[in-house]
Amino acid sequence: MKILVVGGAGYIGSHMVKQLAQAGNDVITLDNLSYGYRDAVKYGEFIEGDLGDESVLDAILGTGDIDAVMHFAGFIQVGESVLKPSMYYHNNVVNTFTLLEAMLRHGVKNFIFSSTAAIFGEPDYTPIDEKHNKQPINPYGHSKLMIEQVLEDYDKAYGLRSTCLRYFNAAGADPDGELGERHVPETHLIPLILQAASGRREDIKVFGDDYATDDGTCVRDYIHINDLCEAHSLALHRMIKSDKSARYNLGNGTGFSVKQVIDVAKKVSGNDFKVSIEPRRAGDPAVLVADSTLAREQLNWQPRHAELDDIVKTAWQWETDFLSRQ
Ligand code: UFG
Repeated sequence: MKILVVGGAGYIGSHMVKQLAQAGNDVITLDNLSYGYRDAVKYGEFIEGDLGDESVLDAILGTGDIDAVMHFAGFIQVGESVLKPSMYYHNNVVNTFTLLEAMLRHGVKNFIFSSTAAIFGEPDYTPIDEKHNKQPINPYGHSKLMIEQVLEDYDKAYGLRSTCLRYFNAAGADPDGELGERHVPETHLIPLILQAASGRREDIKVFGDDYATDDGTCVRDYIHINDLCEAHSLALHRMIKSDKSARYNLGNGTGFSVKQVIDVAKKVSGNDFKVSIEPRRAGDPAVLVADSTLAREQLNWQPRHAELDDIVKTAWQWETDFLSRQ
């Protein structure tokens, strides 16, 4: 297949591009490099351009040979979305809308959308399945849910097929050591902990230890980046074969507390580091764990890196390689 990967220079997008190319697909990355890195796109064609730029989209989609579009170019920081909602609605909603309109103009009818656990808001129950109420508690979650709604309507009216994949906590790095997580600023737990373990950071701050969980810290469902990408490939094949849209929650189904992740990182790295307890971070639900039964059953999806040690090991390899490159 020929696949356009929008945001293919970012963390998840770059791993996806590699996996698609290695499976024999023809891949084009479109990325404006606002958060991504040119050198993270190691496979296929690269076009520097913006998701909201109709002329670039027309040039790519107008060739008539694109089979599917995968969209990873969303903004992802919950806290920032509360402070700058306009930035989030503009990029995550308006620009995505521009992309969808271009797809319709050129008759490209298969779309894979990066959605998020944040569409569920404070969970009523865990693990969270697809039927769970969708009540986002921040602009980031709202922006993703709005596009899910647009996609539902476009499916019915225009036959645009979509698969929305709600990620829980994407983590880890390419086991070949070629790609990894490079957010600036970094806000995610595992890379921050490993930067403390390697000495790049003074300490790790735990945001709250008074939650209603076993050790008082927040519980999350960490899923390896390659397992996440594998689900995209399986979902794309199923969507094309069945000619049906779908939505899946993607996680391992096991929760780990912040303190447990810190312990695993200490074990994997063999290094001790300072841990300080800070006040809660706004907008953090106590527990977010996925029920991915639907993805396992319908897509025959089997996460290969189900152990947290294994996920953290790949991220640690990326962190130590980063230091040796400095
Ligand atoms: N945390 C800390 N210290 C840190 C960073 C994070 O204690 O320095 C805690 C957070 O409070 C949270 C947990 O570690 O309890 C995980 O935090 P992350 O920022 O790594 O991930 P989130 O669960 O907040 O966010 C992830 C994605 C978002 C997505 C969200 C869906 O990164 O894009 O899941 O709920 F919206």
